[in-house]
Amino acid sequence: MQYPDPVALARVVEEMRRLPPLVTSWEVESLRDQLARAARGEAFLLQGGDCAESFDDCRPDAIAAKLKILMQMSLVLVHGTRRPVIRVGRIAGQYAKPRSADTETKGGVTLPSYRGDIVNREAFTTADRTPDPVLMLRGYERAALTLNFVRALADGGFADLHHPEYWDISFADGARHAAEYRRIVDQIRESISFVTAITGMDSAILKRVDFFTSHEGLALLYEAAQTRTVPRRPGHYNLSTHMPWIGMRTAQLDGAHVEFHRGIKNPLGIKIGPAMTAEWLTELLGALDPDREPGRITLIARMGAGKVGDHLPRLVEAVKQTGRRPLWVCDPMHGNTESTPQGYKTRRFDKILAELEESFAVHESLGSSLGGVHFEMTGEDVTECIGGARGLVEADLERAYRTRVDPRLNYEQALELALLVARHLRKA
Ligand code: PEP
Ligand code: CO
Repeated sequence: MQYPDPVALARVVEEMRRLPPLVTSWEVESLRDQLARAARGEAFLLQGGDCAESFDDCRPDAIAAKLKILMQMSLVLVHGTRRPVIRVGRIAGQYAKPRSADTETKGGVTLPSYRGDIVNREAFTTADRTPDPVLMLRGYERAALTLNFVRALADGGFADLHHPEYWDISFADGARHAAEYRRIVDQIRESISFVTAITGMDSAILKRVDFFTSHEGLALLYEAAQTRTVPRRPGHYNLSTHMPWIGMRTAQLDGAHVEFHRGIKNPLGIKIGPAMTAEWLTELLGALDPDREPGRITLIARMGAGKVGDHLPRLVEAVKQTGRRPLWVCDPMHGNTESTPQGYKTRRFDKILAELEESFAVHESLGSSLGGVHFEMTGEDVTECIGGARGLVEADLERAYRTRVDPRLNYEQALELALLVARHLRKA
């Protein structure tokens, strides 16, 4: 990525270095402890949010909707897993995107690809597509505004959790598992009322909840500008987020992204797809977690429905050979992207569910365990993925197709997937 004005770039980086961090080292440490618990099978990770956050979506209603769906899904997953659920948003910094092509050509004009709001702008003009360093600063500010609101909501915004209106699942009426969905939701509401009654605290426990942030650690200048030492704790922390992850396209052993992430103390996600080999993964683990710290590594597999059995077992076996116990998570989104004849990128609900089920089964057969799920989703009524109880079809996509990059589950689809996972786990 080429910034044409190195002086302007240096000025932005210098300013970001001086500004306060977005998260704290003790929150980062707390998340790592919780992820260690999940790796031992004592907790479950729910990670989700936009493929790419946009500056325009830094709005109170959109942020509140994202938090609400994450909160509801987490309670459904508590019900299914009977374990504490760790909530991690793809939020407050998920602004940079890897692209398969460096350039895009339209009508004979070739320009740099859009790489996320923190790098350049989506409009197809030379000025908009030229990387602008000031967007990093704007991204940092948007992340701070988002996180400020997230923290306020997490500290008391969920008072109505046991109200029936909060759990409107009428979208599923008439669908195959509607009765079971209703039963799960009723049980959750009853549990909340029960806790309220015996503690007399009006669900105080549930009003104050933990939310953590994560994003792909892709724009290294942004990440580095927020990376610092803190008093009385050794090492460097990337305080732009609690949990950065290394994407599929930047996981080369000798690449800058692995080198950068080696040097920070945060818990790290690593995306792994069908191209990942056992040797490569083993070396990545050696490079990124030489001290075998519990909670340090979360492996986020994104193989595609029908392919989990072909690729996951050799990786699980290779990790076993090393004696390590990372947290295994399934991202059922990125291996299941397809394009419609009209040119919409979409994903099918049934394939997403199938990849989740295949992943649970593979881990079970190998004696390891799937300790979390990773979704691209929004709390709003978008039409980007096909399927679900509402039966969205290709023709529906144009109604509310709003994603900047990859198709997200909408509110109903996301809640339904959580319900189906809970149902699956309760049966297992
Ligand atoms: C993403 O998570 O949005 C992404 C680009 O994923 P991957 O690196 O797994 O393709
Ligand atoms: Co994506």
